[in-house]
Order: sequence, then structure tokens, then C-alpha cells
Amino acid sequence: MKFSTKAIHKGQEADQSTGAVIPPIYMTSTYKQEWPNQHKGYDYTRAGNPNFTNLEQTLASLEEGKYATVFSSGLGATTALISTLDSGDTVVAGQDLYGGTFRLLNSIFKSYGIKLELINTLDLDEVENALANKPKLIILESPTNPLLRISDIPAIIKIAKKHNVMTAVDNTFATPYFQNPLTWGVDVVLHSTTKYIGGHSDVVGGTLITNDLEYDTKFKFNRMSIGLNPSPFDAWLLTRGVKTLAIRMEQHAKSAMEVAKYLEVHPKVKTVFYPGLESHPQHTIASRQMRGFGGIVSVEFDLTLEQTKKLISSFNIFTLAESLGGVESLVDHPASMTHASIPREERIKNGLNDGLVRFSVGIEHIDDIIKDIEQQLKLV
Ligand SMILES: Cc1ncc(COP(=O)(O)O)c(C=O)c1O
Repeated sequence: MKFSTKAIHKGQEADQSTGAVIPPIYMTSTYKQEWPNQHKGYDYTRAGNPNFTNLEQTLASLEEGKYATVFSSGLGATTALISTLDSGDTVVAGQDLYGGTFRLLNSIFKSYGIKLELINTLDLDEVENALANKPKLIILESPTNPLLRISDIPAIIKIAKKHNVMTAVDNTFATPYFQNPLTWGVDVVLHSTTKYIGGHSDVVGGTLITNDLEYDTKFKFNRMSIGLNPSPFDAWLLTRGVKTLAIRMEQHAKSAMEVAKYLEVHPKVKTVFYPGLESHPQHTIASRQMRGFGGIVSVEFDLTLEQTKKLISSFNIFTLAESLGGVESLVDHPASMTHASIPREERIKNGLNDGLVRFSVGIEHIDDIIKDIEQQLKLV
């Protein structure tokens, strides 16, 4: 079955008892038992719910994986992953890790004795050196948020396997439509389903997908034990949103490329970050490992910080807001919004400058998107 067919049919069979084509929302906290501990597979919604199961089957099949576990948010999924580790373990991650993931590791799990080591995952020698020290886990984001750096994932997996290090890839930006890290031997794929998988900016969620039953059992145990479950309604909304992932991603990527090309030659622009551009430093790796380049374009304008802030607050089509991946175009100022949790010094060291702007290019008509940018740039 091809991707767009799986997105619509896997885990989404008609309801057996009524024939309803769309499975109902099981808004129940608990389930009737025939005899103590004899039930139909569900006993309490913190542990499981048919809407979770439906969504998990869809997501696992889209990522070419066997098992998926859904969570209340992307950070809920990361919490479940990290809480499988022990005090004293080290997690290695890329320097420009998403700000919220950095905060979770650096502020919360640090107190439980889990160490974080940030490295430049673009440098395979640095990866080799870090993994030779036998950390427990390496988390890769590729493309990264918001600098869209591309790590050579298959090469890093090879190094990790040599040193017996568990691997996880945050695949939120690429989505399973453009890249499937499990097929390269990655142990766990993570998503903030809040973004492209939901696709409509109306739900917060996360998932972990794996081929390893032992990992999946731990993730489900940790979800239940910590209380990281989503609501049945949120799982249902995600099941609805993911059906159109293929056509949305085609359009996001097409429009993002046009925006990137338009901005690349604009006199008020210093640098455009988009892996689809030949000028992107990892364009060759991106072309090799991705089937498309995604819908996010980051830009440094040749403007003062005040002018940049004025620009991004004045768009008509782009809404100034956190998050990304919805059908509507959004614009973000990472330094003061999504990545404000990273200390400034650390941020600048990793190339995330105060003037950087992140565009989440939506699926409105491309002429309206470009016109909005063009008109507002004339006014600053
Ligand atoms: C790449 C990436 N990973 C993880 C997260 C965290 O997801 P959530 O906001 O759903 O908790 C985000 C959120 O922006 C993200 O961009």
C-alpha cells in the first residue's frame, strides 16, 4: 500500500458495532469488566484507548515501523523516552536541539542525574569521539529547528551501532512523507504530532515509533506510569489530520521552495536557510536522504533587530505565532519565542542569531504568500 492510502486506511477501519465509516471518539476514562481483570483489552484511558490504538497503527505504518505509542505532546514523548534511562546515563544531542527539548534535558532530567552532551552532529569525527565514550542515547534532529541543518543520519547510525549506542531521530520537520529513519536502522523515531501530522494547529501531541517490542513496552509502561497520555479527542483529531499528510507536504514543500528562491535574491536578505537550495551547506546530504525538503524556511534579513520585529509583526498571511506545520502560514522569532529557553550565549554560539526568522510556509495560494512578504518588505 502506498503512503497516501495508508494515511487514510491503516488503523481506520469502519466501526464494527455500527458501521460508522469514521471510528467514534471513545470519550471514556474507564471500561466495564466482565470479571475482575477480564476486559476487552482496555481498563483505564491513562493506559490505553481505542483512539490511541487507531492512531498508533496509522503512525507506525507511515514510519515503516512495527509499533507506535502516542503521547500528550512531543515533549511528553521525549519524557517517556528519557525516563527509560537510568541516573548516571549520558544523552548526546545536536547543538541546535529544539529549545524545549534542551530545557527538558538541561533543567528537569539533569536533576535526576541524566547528563546532556551537545555536539556538532555535522562533524562525523566529533560524533565518533562522543559515541566512543559510550553514552546511552543519541538524539538527532534533522532538519534541525530552526536552522535546518542536515545530519548524515545513516552514517551516524553506523557509528552508533559500532559503539552500541541507542539512536533516536526527531522526525518532526521532515515527516514520514519525506524521510523514514527506521529504514536506516534508527531505534526510535519521535514526532511532535502537533506540527505536520496534525496539520491544522488545533491539537498538541507526540509519538514514539520503533521496531523493537521491548522499547515499545517500556514507552507504554512509562506513558501509563507518568500520565503522559493524550485525550481520546486529541488522538481522534490527529487521526483525521494525518489523512491528508501526503498532499499537504507536497504543497508545503513546493511553496517553501518558491519562498526560499524569492528571498535568496532579495536585497534586504542576508541568508536563507532551506535544504532544497543548492546554496545550503548540506544540500547534497539532504538530496540523498530526503524525498523532499519540507515546509520551513529560515531567514536572516539585512535589517536591524527592531526592523525585523516590525516586519514579522505586520504580515497579513503569515501569523506571528509559535509552532509550525499547519495549513496556515506562521512566522516565528526563535530568539524571543520558541528558543528563548536556551541561554543567549549558547544560542549565538550555535549560530542561532537574534535576527533569525522562521517561516512555516502554509498551503495558501503561493501568489498571496509571496505578495505578503514582498509588500511588507517594501515598508521596512
Ligand atoms: C523539532 C521539535 N521537536 C519537539 C517539539 C516538542 O513538541 P510539542 O510542542 O508537541 O511538545 C517541537 C516543538 O516545537 C519541535 O519543533
